[in-house]
Amino acid sequence: MARAIYPGSFDPVTYGHIDIIKRAADIFDELTVSVLSNSAKSPLFSVDERVNMLKEVCSDLKNVRITSYMGLLAEYAQDEGFDVIIRGLRAITDFEYELQMAQTNHKISESVDTVFLTTSLEYAYLSSSIVREVARYGGDIHNFVPDLVAEQVYAKAGIDRNGKQ
Ligand code: COA
Repeated sequence: MARAIYPGSFDPVTYGHIDIIKRAADIFDELTVSVLSNSAKSPLFSVDERVNMLKEVCSDLKNVRITSYMGLLAEYAQDEGFDVIIRGLRAITDFEYELQMAQTNHKISESVDTVFLTTSLEYAYLSSSIVREVARYGGDIHNFVPDLVAEQVYAKAGIDRNGKQ
C-alpha cells in the first residue's frame, strides 16, 4: 500500500492545490495533506485555520486526511512511514527550488523520495499570494479558490462580500 504526503503552506489552499490533491489521491492508496511551515513566509492564516479550510475542501475525498507539523518534512515523512512526498510543478521557475528541496529531503531521510506532478495548465499562473493580493484590493477571487475559502480570505482582508472595504 503506497502512502503519500503532500506538504505545503496552503495560505490559503487554491484550486491549483486541489487539482494536485485530487490527482495524487487517485494515484496513491492514502494521501496526507499536511500544513508545514515555510520559514521564508509570514502566513496570513494560522495553522489551525489552514487545516480547517483543507478539511472542508477535501471532505469528499475518502483516502485523504489533513494534518499539520512544525518540524522538518523529511523527519516527519520518515517517522510516519510515508513512501513519497508529492509536490506540484507549475513552471520551470519552480524547478530549481523544488529540486533542491527534494534532494535535501532525500539526504536527510534516504527512505523518502519526492514525486512531482505537473500542475494543470489552467492553474499554472496561480499562487496563494496572488489570491491574497487580489482579495486585498477587493478583486474577485472566486475563480481561484472555493467559496468557503474566498469568504475567509475576504474576512481577513477586511473586505465585505460585495468586494468593498
Ligand atoms: N497550483 C497552483 N499553485 C501552486 C501549486 C499548484 N499546483 N503548487 C504550489 N502552488 C503555489 C502555492 O500557492 C504557493 O504560492 P505562494 O508562494 O504565493 O504562497 C507556492 O506555489 C508554493 O507553496 P506551497 O506548495 O504551499 O508550499 P511552500 O513552498 O510554501 O512550502 C514546505 C514548502 C512547507 C513544504 C517547506 O518549506 C517545508 O518542507 N517546510 C518544513 C521545514 C523543512 O523541512 N524545511 C527544509 C526543506 S528542504
